[in-house]
Amino acid sequence: MRVGKKKYTTLWIENKNKIKIIDQTQLPFEFRVFELKTLSDFCSAIKDMNVRGAPLIGVTAAFGLALSVLKDPRENNIKDSYEKLFDTRPTAVNLKWALDKILNNVLKVDISKRFDLAFNLAIEIRKNDILKCQKIGEYGCKLLENIYKKNRKRINILTHCNAGWLATIDWGTALSPIYKAFQKKIPLHVWVDETRPRNQGSSLTAWELKNENVPYTIICDNAGGHLMQNGKVDLCLVGSDRTSLNGDVCNKIGTYLKAIAAFENKIPFYVALPTSTIDRNLTSGINIPIENRGKEELSDIRFFEKKKLKVKSIYFKNAKIFNPAFDVTPSKYITGLITEKGICKPNLKSINQIFEK
Ligand code: MRU
Repeated sequence: MRVGKKKYTTLWIENKNKIKIIDQTQLPFEFRVFELKTLSDFCSAIKDMNVRGAPLIGVTAAFGLALSVLKDPRENNIKDSYEKLFDTRPTAVNLKWALDKILNNVLKVDISKRFDLAFNLAIEIRKNDILKCQKIGEYGCKLLENIYKKNRKRINILTHCNAGWLATIDWGTALSPIYKAFQKKIPLHVWVDETRPRNQGSSLTAWELKNENVPYTIICDNAGGHLMQNGKVDLCLVGSDRTSLNGDVCNKIGTYLKAIAAFENKIPFYVALPTSTIDRNLTSGINIPIENRGKEELSDIRFFEKKKLKVKSIYFKNAKIFNPAFDVTPSKYITGLITEKGICKPNLKSINQIFEK
C-alpha cells in the first residue's frame, strides 16, 4: 500500500537474499527500513515488534529460518533455529504454521538443496499472503456493498488494533475489505480504537488509512460501547491471531469487550483472517496461549521529540502491572469469519467446509 507516493510492502527481498523490513516501532513518526541478516535479527524483530501482526510474523519467521539454513543446512541447526524463532511470540499461530511448512519440507531433501527449497518456500508464503489478503478483501467488500445497498448511507466500521497491510505483507485482513470498498467508492468511515498499551490503532491503523485517504476517527478503547449504543457503528471488523475450530477468536486485548458490546447492540461483528490463522489442533479458544508482555508497555509513554523516540513514565514508581496482550472472543459473539476461501460461520461444520474448498 502507499506511503506518500510510493508503494510498499512490509517485508521484501533485495539483491537475491537481502531481507528488508519497515520498522513499525517508529511509526507513524519515523519511516525507517532496515535489513534482517542474522537469526538473532529475525528473532528480535519479531519479539520487539519491529514487525508484528499474525501473518507478517509468520512470513518473517519463514525468511529467518531460510537464511539460517543458508548459514548451516544441518538438521541440528535447522531445528535449533526453528525453536528460537518459535519462542519469540506465543499467540499468533501463523508463526508455527510457516515454520512447520519450511521444516517439514527441507528435512526431506539433500543437504545441498535445503537452502534453495527453504528460501523458495518463504517466497511462496510471502506471495500467497498477498493473494489471500486480496481475496479476503474481495469477499469482505461484497459484504460492505450489501450493507450499502440496503441502507444507502455511509457505513461506519469499528476496528481494533492493526489488522491492515502493516500486519501482513500487503492489504491486511480486516482493513482489506475497507480498502477494496473505498476503491469502489462505497462511502465509509472507520472508528479506530487507539488500542492501548502499544497503540497499534492510533499509530498504525490510522496512519495506513490516512495514507490511503480513507476517512477515519481515532477513539479511546472505552468509547466503542457508547458509539454502538448510539447507532454510530454499523459493523465491527477485526483480525485474529489464532482461531480455534469452534470459531473462537483470539485477537488483541480488548477485542472481547467490543464483541460483547456489538452483540448487546445487535451490530454485526466480523473477523477477517487467512485460514493459516486457524489452529486445526484446537477445538476451543480456551487453551490458546496468551502472551503477557512487559509492564513498561503500560507504564511508559513513548513519543517523538526532535525526531528522537523518547520514553516517559506515567505511573508511580513500582506500581503493580499486568499486561496480557490478547484475549479470546467466544464464537457466540461473532457473526462470521471472512477468509480467503469465502465467508463462513464461526462453528466447526462451517470451518471444516471452508478447508474443503
Ligand atoms: O501484538 P500485535 O500488534 O502483533 O497484534 C496484532 C493483532 O492483534 C492483529 O489484530 C492480528 O494479528 C491480526 S493481523 C492481520
